[in-house]
Amino acid sequence: MYEDLNPAPRLLMGPGPINADPRVLRAMSAPLLGQFDPQFREYLKQVSELYHALFHTKNRWTLLVDGTARSAIEAALASLIEQGDRVLVPVFGRFGHLKVEIAKRCAAEVRAIEIAWGTVFTPERLEKEIKPLKPKIVAVSHGDTSTTMAQPLEALGKLCRAHEALLYVDATATLGGMDLPVDAWQLDVVSAGLQKCLGGPSGSAPTYLHDRAEKRTVGRRHTEHRLRVRGMEEGDGSVIGSNYFDLAMIMDYWSEKALNHHTEATSMLYAARESARILLQEGLDKAFARHARASQALVAGLKAMGLELFGDTAHKMPNVTGVHIPEGVDGERVRRALLEHFNIEIGTSFGPLHGRIWRIGTMGYNAREDAVLATLGALEAVLAAQNLNLPRGAAVDAALAVYR
Ligand SMILES: Cc1ncc(COP(=O)(O)O)c(C=O)c1O
Repeated sequence: MYEDLNPAPRLLMGPGPINADPRVLRAMSAPLLGQFDPQFREYLKQVSELYHALFHTKNRWTLLVDGTARSAIEAALASLIEQGDRVLVPVFGRFGHLKVEIAKRCAAEVRAIEIAWGTVFTPERLEKEIKPLKPKIVAVSHGDTSTTMAQPLEALGKLCRAHEALLYVDATATLGGMDLPVDAWQLDVVSAGLQKCLGGPSGSAPTYLHDRAEKRTVGRRHTEHRLRVRGMEEGDGSVIGSNYFDLAMIMDYWSEKALNHHTEATSMLYAARESARILLQEGLDKAFARHARASQALVAGLKAMGLELFGDTAHKMPNVTGVHIPEGVDGERVRRALLEHFNIEIGTSFGPLHGRIWRIGTMGYNAREDAVLATLGALEAVLAAQNLNLPRGAAVDAALAVYR
């Protein structure tokens, strides 16, 4: 029958998932409710309101897509893209490629533009692409954890509006850790995941839609047989190619119509509610500052050890740090030793960066002084054990100095 479930008490300092805030885990153990129980519908409404505050929006729609962050990327693209639509995807890491792949499956005519991993696009480059292409949709990551870079978005929304493109932003790794005022930046659809800066487990994807995106999606509404209610109009656009990820149906489920679609993952709804409450109780500006401070302390410690940061540090995400694996050090052996002796997980990397950098997260519940200090102290000890010559004690001292 196997033994009792007894996971090791790891400190998860990779690029996500991170340790969920204990408050979120407690919220998840609350009793379940039926989907049409008035109390449940009230919680649904509250979650939508809480995420309005997190996304800084006055538009109508914030909701949860049930699934990991990828589910909301798929829901957004499947609901926006019609066959043959031109879609521009600026790729600056692995998750740009994911959007290319999903957009292709939605039968889009995709133009992917790529730059070297560790850099971001300039607004000029993006304008140069958008002007002649006139894409219907631009799909981009805010922060790409594979490269630890954050793409500046302030100018892109305006540019997309000027050229009548809808802008989808994958904020999986940034919502709650970096400012993302979706109304001010004129973003059309933005989605996230709980397991990063929101401090929850994976399995729920908070999503925001601007009225423009709502209009496009509702224009493709095709309600399941026998579910249509009076006053509901069917769209004249093409049927959305996915039933589960049909945002028009998901909106109808979340609306006062409460039209049956999926069975909401109630424990995940509780988790998303508590994650948002924790951040809003702290204050978003304070939460952003906490992430920035943890990143500065980690960086100071890594540099004090003599390690070299990866990429264009001016555009580094404040919640994930890429650091070069020193010459002669076996990166995987270090990660294994951290796990075995210290119960600490740091991240490996993908594609062109595989074996070249580690990725260390300071996000959500783990963007804390004690978590940063423990990670630096452990990394130093493990590297010293692999005969790397480094100044002992300097990393923790440098990080402590940032906190002081
Ligand atoms: C930027 C970005 N997008 C999408 C994903 C995919 O998220 P999930 O694994 O929750 O589906 C990740 C996960 O690391 C990510 O960092």
